[in-house]
Amino acid sequence: MNFKKVTLLLVTVFLFASLVNAQDFTYIGAAKCKMCHNKPDKGEQYNKWAAGPHAKAMASLKAADATNPKCLKCHSTYASVDEGARGTLTKEEGVSCESCHGAGSAYKVIGIMKDKAKAKANGLIMPDEKLCRKCHNKESPNYKEFNFAEYSKKIAHKDPSKQ
Ligand code: HEC
Ligand code: HEC
Ligand code: HEC
Ligand code: HEC
Repeated sequence: MNFKKVTLLLVTVFLFASLVNAQDFTYIGAAKCKMCHNKPDKGEQYNKWAAGPHAKAMASLKAADATNPKCLKCHSTYASVDEGARGTLTKEEGVSCESCHGAGSAYKVIGIMKDKAKAKANGLIMPDEKLCRKCHNKESPNYKEFNFAEYSKKIAHKDPSKQ
């Protein structure tokens, strides 16, 4: 290999490594989102989530089920992500914001959050039906037919000031 080729190879490896690093986002937990996403005139996302089924998903697991990885994988964001990515997320918060919106460590910053394209580049996800079906599927012992439109309405937390 000549010098040029080696340099090109190193540059490629470096670029690839930085891309991989850029995706190493960590989870911050719902309490951190609450600081900015709980204003009644903007949709009160935190309170709606807290009163809904996902925040209570851990409470449904009784006795041994609460530590059974086979149940936790869908009932707890904390248990379903790599240990090293858990950050300030807690097990008790069940299916947290970040199961649907992606790990928030990089996009939570106001300057990034305000710009949707930037937020997405930093890990923000706007979930679709496919994402819901990662948990709403027949592997669930209590599976009920999943109707995306109906189920979305039940957990809706839109910002009325944007409509
Ligand atoms: C420092 C304040 C702040 C924090 C912390 C924060 N956000 Fe945001 N977020 C904003 C602002 C500002 C916007 C853009 C304006 C708006 O939609 O209200 C936004 C927009 C969003 C959007 C909508 C994107 C769009 O344009 O449709 C989602 C989803 C979202 N945030 C989720 C989260 C989640 C989940 C967390 C926690 C992991 C979080 N945010 C933490 C301030 C914040
Ligand atoms: C990480 C797994 C996970 C994802 C992703 C997920 N859910 Fe859920 N969902 C659950 C669990 C677990 C429950 C049951 C909570 C409980 O009662 O213990 C649930 C319950 C619900 C319920 C209440 C159902 C009922 O019988 O009352 C609705 C509605 C719902 N989810 C909608 C959605 C929608 C819409 C999406 C996608 C935008 C979604 N979920 C994504 C795990 C998930
Ligand atoms: C593939 C994901 C998944 C797995 C694995 C899973 N659950 Fe669930 N669980 C759900 C979803 C989604 C719901 C919401 C019910 C629905 O609407 O489909 C739910 C609901 C429940 C409920 C509430 C039942 C109701 O009808 O209100 C209990 C209790 C529960 N699960 C216990 C468990 C236990 C115990 C395990 C492990 C043995 C387990 N789950 C494994 C996804 C899962
Ligand atoms: C079960 C999945 C799920 C969970 C959990 C969840 N969201 Fe969402 N969120 C959605 C969906 C679906 C939308 C609508 C996406 C769209 O309009 O394309 C949404 C939209 C939003 C928006 C944009 C509202 C608007 O109208 O501009 C914000 C902000 C937001 N979520 C914040 C949060 C915060 C904060 C939490 C936790 C406290 C949370 N979400 C938990 C699925 C979820």
